[in-house]
Amino acid sequence: MTQVKPFDVALGDRTGTRLIARPRRLRSSAAMRGLVRETRVNPDGLVAPLFVVAGDGVVQPIGSMPGVARFSVDTVVRECRELDAAGVRAVLLFGIPEAAAKDAYATVNYDPNGIVQRAAGAIKDALPHLLVIADLCNCEYTDHGHCGIVDAAGEIDNDRTLEILAKTALTYARAGVDIVAPSDMMDGRVAAIRAALDDDGFTKTAIMSYAAKYASAFYGPFREAAESTPAFGDRRTYQMDPANRREALKEVRLDVEEGADIVMVKPAMAYLDVVCSVREMTDLPLAVYHVSGEYAMLKAAAERGWIDEDRAVDETLTAIARAGADIIITYFAKDYLRRTRS
Ligand code: PBG
Repeated sequence: MTQVKPFDVALGDRTGTRLIARPRRLRSSAAMRGLVRETRVNPDGLVAPLFVVAGDGVVQPIGSMPGVARFSVDTVVRECRELDAAGVRAVLLFGIPEAAAKDAYATVNYDPNGIVQRAAGAIKDALPHLLVIADLCNCEYTDHGHCGIVDAAGEIDNDRTLEILAKTALTYARAGVDIVAPSDMMDGRVAAIRAALDDDGFTKTAIMSYAAKYASAFYGPFREAAESTPAFGDRRTYQMDPANRREALKEVRLDVEEGADIVMVKPAMAYLDVVCSVREMTDLPLAVYHVSGEYAMLKAAAERGWIDEDRAVDETLTAIARAGADIIITYFAKDYLRRTRS
């Protein structure tokens, strides 16, 4: 037997005597790489979250989320014009009422004149083509900061919470919201919200459910932004255990059966295996939320010069798309589109 020297192997595919695979051929130039690129971030699928507070003329930076601010109803319209000009097609609204307005039952959440309702109306008046999605939860509206109603034993009362969510969803739809996005993780909320919307004639209002939402440390900065940290306990009796993937499939299946139009996995980076599995099990559009802590980590490392922000953001959003996301909710939406859209 003749011994093959490395030199002969290297010549192999030229001489045809010994073939080796050369995947590098398809990476040889930018044009070649573009030709064979498998994943692209859909610019029309990026959603920008917006925090809306009471008052007038407010633009209040959020310390743990550099580049993100809280707006009042008037300034949020201005921000939406900027987002629109950058090419953002959809915003996700979070309402943050004054502390004094909060109570145990999230009453201000279904005030027809509440923050989200007013913001949605003002945005739709100014920019009718911009999609307005409203996060639907109670934690920003309850004085205890939980996403549901707390019963006498200090536990979250699932079914009473459903009534509030359904009632609130209706006021959002009446205000012009295109998509309601329940993020509370109560059981049965999608069915309850769908029924309430349909009974009132809002058959066109879509539901994007936070189907697999994990009890995550990566929501830290959001809770500062939204003043929604629970006063006692945590969210582990309603949000999912980060250890569970099969359970995510169950949650998605239930939401699909209940009538969700779009399902979501949240957070993103630590859950891309879940995103991949959910993508395979449903035909519905899949949204993935790149959350506040994920944003803060990238920003903090970039500020210190430890990573290149633009490249890290591109890589992150591409990875989320590669895992199967059709829609990516991200605080980077405006910057990313400004930078990448010519
Ligand atoms: C409300 C809600 C939260 C987020 C979205 N909707 C916070 C939470 O569940 O504690 C987190 C978003 C983010 O971190 O960017 N329930």
